[in-house]
Amino acid sequence: MPSSAEEALGPANLTVGGETIELPVQQPTLGRKTIDVSSLGQHGLAVFDPGYADTAAYTSAITFVDGEAGRLYFRGYPVEQLATSHSFLEVAYLLIYGELPGAEAADNFVAKVRDPKLAIHVGIERMFDTFPQSMHPMAMMSIATEALTAYADEDAGLDARARVEQAGIRLLSSMPVFAGYAHAVLRGVAHGKSNRSLDYVEDFLQLCFSLPGSDHLPDNATARALNTLLILHADHELNCSTATLRMVASSGASFYAGVSAAINALWGPLHGGANQEVIRMLQEIKDSGKPLSAIIDKAKDKNDPFRLMGFGHRVYKTTDARARVIRQIALDLVEKLAPEDPLLEIAMKLEEVALADDYFISRRLYPNVDFYSGIIYRAIGFPDAMFTPLFVLGRSAGWVAHWLEMASGPGRIGRPTQFYNGSAERNVPARPGAS
Ligand code: SDX
Repeated sequence: MPSSAEEALGPANLTVGGETIELPVQQPTLGRKTIDVSSLGQHGLAVFDPGYADTAAYTSAITFVDGEAGRLYFRGYPVEQLATSHSFLEVAYLLIYGELPGAEAADNFVAKVRDPKLAIHVGIERMFDTFPQSMHPMAMMSIATEALTAYADEDAGLDARARVEQAGIRLLSSMPVFAGYAHAVLRGVAHGKSNRSLDYVEDFLQLCFSLPGSDHLPDNATARALNTLLILHADHELNCSTATLRMVASSGASFYAGVSAAINALWGPLHGGANQEVIRMLQEIKDSGKPLSAIIDKAKDKNDPFRLMGFGHRVYKTTDARARVIRQIALDLVEKLAPEDPLLEIAMKLEEVALADDYFISRRLYPNVDFYSGIIYRAIGFPDAMFTPLFVLGRSAGWVAHWLEMASGPGRIGRPTQFYNGSAERNVPARPGAS
């Protein structure tokens, strides 16, 4: 059981079949009192927790989400304070090293991430040239990241933690270029070149919007808004994709293999892929001309698999800390960049109708990080398929931090048990005619 910032609390007593077992209980720095059930196996017992909603699988000091209050903290700092006061790379430094960087540390970190020596290997560039225009950019990001296991040359003489740190720097350096190249494949044009003299976000935007056929390069205000969005997406405790990353790390697989797996988990429409699904949903509402009540009723219908995309969250039981900031960015940017786009107005009306409906109120379902982000990306000029790769750009910082945290301490391979409801032992029937 992890050492907590406060003394251990009295034990929990579990009585099963006449036997009472004392289970340690501790109060983490922030969050729920936590019962250590790791001794239950010795008593022939297990716990059942589908989706791990109430299971603390790891000890971590990186991020805390207060779902009741709708607050998010990176190393103790409220994300809304970091979102407009620091650069994405300064916040990546905070997540990875635990403290905000001073000016010199920030300059050194940026210089490492922006080092021209970390340019994409020509072998990976050639892979992008072979990707069909129909390929989803999340597949391209996952394949290119996995390919780093072949093309990256971390210094074998370093210890495990230092090697992961070097790989993490390379990942942060590579991700915006992978996303820029994927954008070019989507557009059916040759990719541009990374310009390391620009800052992280500006270089990414020029990779995406200085392509043949592009009619504009986003301005500084847009670059600042994207910097804030990357920060808001940088980490979020043990969400599905970060938990996947940690599971891969626990087997001793390579860092890049773990990030590639996390990218694929994030792609799912119930997770990071929701930002693209929200736009599809809003577009369908616009094109169908149906009343909003029809979409709300469809979302409430137990017999219909449709969910109100961008709504609900496993942890937040009020509005997602990030959604409040993103909603304001959407209001500001869409007004400026795409005032004719009706989707923002539809989204705001849908939010209003849902939040007045008892189904959503009683289940404490509110807009999450994905509800308004796609509208912003669309106003900037990204195609829908690029929305989740933009999520990857931000979350890569958290993935580096979590991998490093695992590399720093002892760990066991992740291997949940199950509640088996299959057949009891039985014999294979003899084959007809067999001797
Ligand atoms: C992200 O974990 C993270 O931190 C993730 C993330 C991050 O930064 O990494 O925040 C990013 O993934 C945000 C979520 C994006 N996904 C969506 O917007 C998809 C739509 N949302 C739902 O699918 C759902 O809310 C989840 C997946 C987000 C959460 O699912 P849970 O926690 O398993 O909740 P549940 O399915 O058990 O829902 C509880 C009840 C159910 O109704 P009852 O069985 O009680 O009658 O709420 C209902 C659900 O049917 N419900 C919804 C709903 N979300 C939950 N009903 C309609 N529309 C919805 N969106």
